[in-house]
Amino acid sequence: MNGIELMVLEHTYIKRMLNVMRSASYGVLKGEPIVRKDFDQMIDFVRNYADNHHHGKEERMLFNRMMEELGPVAEKLVRHGMLVEHDLGRLFIRQLEEALDRVEAGEDEARLDVIGNAIGYTDLLTRHIDKEDNVVYPFSQNNLSAGTRQIIDTECEAFEQETEQSGVQNKYINLLEELEARYRTGVNRHD
Ligand SMILES: [Fe+2]
Ligand SMILES: [Fe+2]
Repeated sequence: MNGIELMVLEHTYIKRMLNVMRSASYGVLKGEPIVRKDFDQMIDFVRNYADNHHHGKEERMLFNRMMEELGPVAEKLVRHGMLVEHDLGRLFIRQLEEALDRVEAGEDEARLDVIGNAIGYTDLLTRHIDKEDNVVYPFSQNNLSAGTRQIIDTECEAFEQETEQSGVQNKYINLLEELEARYRTGVNRHD
């Protein structure tokens, strides 16, 4: 599996977590109690797997090369598109966490901000992933030099091995499966 194929695979895990977040948000909409621990796990996944692990790889190994090598079109696509969306995602997650704190402090109306930010994030990331899979990644593969593509693959492989040794992938895929078992159907089975 090359670096880009790996990133596409990671998108499938991230999209599964987006479904979990949507189901959990639907539970909030229906008035079910918010299980803080579960939302904290979703945030942990988003920050450490989707953002640090996956977006980190895109930003440090792929997007930087595209901007260096592919001129203004890539600059526009990456700097004013993908990177802005990564930042906007971080803002939604920070606001989601604040809303959860306010709910815990007894502010019932903050449930609305939990839903708003969680759904804002899932919509943003769904469109973002779609753009990467269908436009940004193919553009990089069709235009970067063979040498640069080889460097990206080598760096991605080394990073994967290093993070596998510290158990990152296993931890977050297990966490995803646990949450899916509770939220996949939209019913909060976490009593
Ligand atoms: Fe991205
Ligand atoms: Fe991505």
